Amino acid sequence: MTDIPLLTLNDGQTMPQLGFGLWQVPPDAATGIVKSALETGYRMLDSAYFYRNEAAVGDGLRAAGVAREDVFITTKVWNGDHGRAAARASIERSLKTMGIDALDLILIHWPVPSRDLYVETWQALIEARQDGLVRSIGVSNFNAEHLDRIIGETGVTPVLNQIEVNPELQQPQMRAANAERNILTQSWTPLGNGRSFDAAPITQAAARTGKSPAQVILRWHVQLGLAVIPRSVNPERQAQNMDVFDFELTAAEMEAITTLDVGLRTGPDPSVFKLLG
Ligand SMILES: NC(=O)c1ccc[n+]([C@@H]2O[C@H](COP(=O)([O-])OP(=O)(O)OC[C@H]3O[C@@H](n4cnc5c(N)ncnc54)[C@H](OP(=O)(O)O)[C@@H]3O)[C@@H](O)[C@H]2O)c1
Repeated sequence: MTDIPLLTLNDGQTMPQLGFGLWQVPPDAATGIVKSALETGYRMLDSAYFYRNEAAVGDGLRAAGVAREDVFITTKVWNGDHGRAAARASIERSLKTMGIDALDLILIHWPVPSRDLYVETWQALIEARQDGLVRSIGVSNFNAEHLDRIIGETGVTPVLNQIEVNPELQQPQMRAANAERNILTQSWTPLGNGRSFDAAPITQAAARTGKSPAQVILRWHVQLGLAVIPRSVNPERQAQNMDVFDFELTAAEMEAITTLDVGLRTGPDPSVFKLLG
């Protein structure tokens, strides 16, 4: 089984660099998919209240027979649950749904600046950590100004910021903004829906290393020092996506992949996204 490196977060906790994403994993199949991911060797799961599959995290853990303390579990507070009381209730509901006592990491899923409740929501996360409901706290889809507001108003820095990063949306400024604040960047939709699988820098590196395009892209994230959470419902591709720690991309290959950045999102723009339901 592949050994996945651990990264140390700014609060001293450690987290596997590569984990398993659960967006669009159908709730009725999710327990089997989580079980398969854990049996393949994943030790970090990325869920969210919005994904409607949090129950499968706990059920899959129990079905796989993996000890709770061996798996790093993340979930997220949805946009409709911003505010101090609602965010606290959301965290308690997630724990109950998963059937676990504490989370390893909770994230604010989106800042929703139009609601202007993300600072209060952050305060709820700080309190949940103080009360032992969660070990680490972080954010997702935050811009530099959102980060500066929560840090400035509470004095507490998120451990990570989960943002969209893939070869066609590399976000160098946002990654630098996170790093300047000692915040780890975790890449969501790391494979970019496969949109650069056929690009020359990817296929050439794949041919040289004998790896797949997906493995080359995941290796690129790893070599940039990013945390990454690919998703696959297929056990063979689950195993493939973990198997990215026995080869290296050259400096020239890393540079060639940099040229694929066209700044195109696959998902919404965090500065305006406000879906509540
Ligand atoms: N915070 C946020 O706002 C946010 C937003 C989006 C996503 N996320 C998180 O990030 C995780 C990853 O993002 P994602 O699920 O959107 O996309 P992804 O992991 O980049 O890509 C998943 C897609 O790629 C396919 N795939 C996976 N491995 C493959 C391989 N080796 N070869 C070819 N195709 C492969 C999958 O198909 P198969 O399943 O058929 O293999 C699926 O269609 C999510 O699951 C979620 O946890 C967070």
